[in-house]
Amino acid sequence: MKDVSANADAKRLAGEAAAELVKSGMVVGLGTGSTVAWTIKRLGERVKEEGLDFLGIPTSFQAENLAIACGIRLTTLNSHPVLDLAIDGADQVDQNFFVIKGGGAAHTREKVVSCSAKRFVIVADESKYVPKLTWPVPVEVLPFALRLVERRLSDLGGKPVLRLGKMKDGPVITDNGNFVVDVDFGVIEDPKGLAARICGIPGVVEHGIFDNLDELYLAGKGGVERIGRS
Ligand code: 5RP
Repeated sequence: MKDVSANADAKRLAGEAAAELVKSGMVVGLGTGSTVAWTIKRLGERVKEEGLDFLGIPTSFQAENLAIACGIRLTTLNSHPVLDLAIDGADQVDQNFFVIKGGGAAHTREKVVSCSAKRFVIVADESKYVPKLTWPVPVEVLPFALRLVERRLSDLGGKPVLRLGKMKDGPVITDNGNFVVDVDFGVIEDPKGLAARICGIPGVVEHGIFDNLDELYLAGKGGVERIGRS
């Protein structure tokens, strides 16, 4: 289970820095989690202070509520199918720009929104930038298919664990009404191949391996570094 309070200062630095990318007239994907929450809060301040005029598309109920509280105008993918920019957090990013997301169980909508954007930016503290991915891969699963999916994920060499609620008995239910299993694959040597194999399992709605990152805003003690795809 991730610790959202870890590296709080760096998360804030990275999140707020990426808010400067947003210009009036843009349609912007608003990610989920404690890092991008700083982006959303800063965008709300810019709306009030500078009259920044943009439309947001939230990736979860959490992001939607925060954006509304911050006074950000929202739209939908149905009305605006192509976004100028999407900004989101991550659980891990490797040197080849493969990403693991879904610590907040929002990765299905996060993938749809980020793949609808011309530019996808991730905000993170520097502990998340790693040589190789090792974070358990969140997989959203149709509840009806749970046992089959668990068996097939084990066949791929993973150790699937059904994610359980904290203040609720039983499993976490995603914004789409599904379960999430977190699958430990150890060191992931071939994220692209693994992603394709997970996609091939009947009943998998979406997995948390992303390959569409354009830019990383990474923060540590030295400030914020912008790393582009090489
Ligand atoms: C939610 C996500 C989050 O962006 C990811 O878990 C990072 O969260 P945080 O910024 O709180 O560390 O993928 O599904």
